Amino acid sequence: MKILAIETSCDETSAAIIENSQILSNIVSSQYFHSKYGGVVPELASRAHLQAIIDIVKKALEAAKTTIFNISAIAVTTQPGLIGSLIVGSNFAKGLSLRYNLPVVPINHIEGHIYSGMIENAEIDFPFISLVVSGGHTALFYVKSFLDYELIGTTIDDAAGEAFDKTAKLLGLGYPGGPLIDKLAKSGNPDFINFPRAMINSGDYNFSFSGLKTAVKYYIEKNYPEGVSEDVMPHICASVQKAIVDVLVKKAIDSANFYSTKYLVVAGGVSANSLLRKSFEEEATKHKIKFIAPSISYCIDNAAMIGFLAEKKLMNIAHDEFKRLDFTTKAYTLKKLSFN
Ligand code: KG4
Ligand code: ZN
Repeated sequence: MKILAIETSCDETSAAIIENSQILSNIVSSQYFHSKYGGVVPELASRAHLQAIIDIVKKALEAAKTTIFNISAIAVTTQPGLIGSLIVGSNFAKGLSLRYNLPVVPINHIEGHIYSGMIENAEIDFPFISLVVSGGHTALFYVKSFLDYELIGTTIDDAAGEAFDKTAKLLGLGYPGGPLIDKLAKSGNPDFINFPRAMINSGDYNFSFSGLKTAVKYYIEKNYPEGVSEDVMPHICASVQKAIVDVLVKKAIDSANFYSTKYLVVAGGVSANSLLRKSFEEEATKHKIKFIAPSISYCIDNAAMIGFLAEKKLMNIAHDEFKRLDFTTKAYTLKKLSFN
């Protein structure tokens, strides 16, 4: 059974073909033009999805050496995300469904990230801990099965990726800030400035990153009112990166210890961070926990993770459930999110 998956929740237009948990193709087109605006412009994002989607779906079918006539079901991201962007993917899926008489599996984008580590690591056993860290979300999940998991902690303000992006903006580095900070930090001293690690000892699994950007702002205003010099920039980047990573690692490892899980999986754009991967690897080894991070192509927004999860749902839920096309798109942030 081949599944065509579509993902358009933010600024990546993506389509993938999945069969028996294997990714036959995964085409991702990123809307780089947003960088000149310092962030994603929702209206422009949905227009760009509209222009790209037909081509991206065709490319996914071609790369998988198949055609729409060999597809048995469509999977599509319906929440959370930018509403205009979600509507493009969702309505495209409904259109294909009507034309080719195919069931549509609506998928929650965060759920896609939660299970994305399993795409390349079939050995992962339930239950496990999944840390989803992206530009819009920072959340820890205790995952019991493909249909059952608990949200055990989340950010109470900014997401970790937002902290990278907002700090990079303060430093005049551009958007998205995470990869730029990651790169500059490689030649910096992470102990140069001791930025706050908010809530690191709060005893729960929640996070807070909004104070970090304020601390960076005050630090720059006090010490470099004329602008941060080039020689200091790597040190600030390394110190900011360490402050973010320290909290993520501590809380995720604590949760894996508390729930006695063998596996700890990270996902989402921020999980591409080199210090994060290295620190998790080291800490997990110390605690005898197996740390898994997907390849970068499954960390960033991608349709493969949407199709991978849809296939599991199709195996566990009656197909008739997916013949209804009255599902809607929802833009909810994680704080208000209901997962089903
Ligand atoms: O999951 P994603 O592609 O999109 C969503 O937000 O859903 O994540 C994008 C976020 C941005 O905030 C970006 O700065 C961050 O991931 N990011 C990184 C790195 N690569 C991407 N943050 C830190 N280090 C990186 N190498
Ligand atoms: Zn995402």
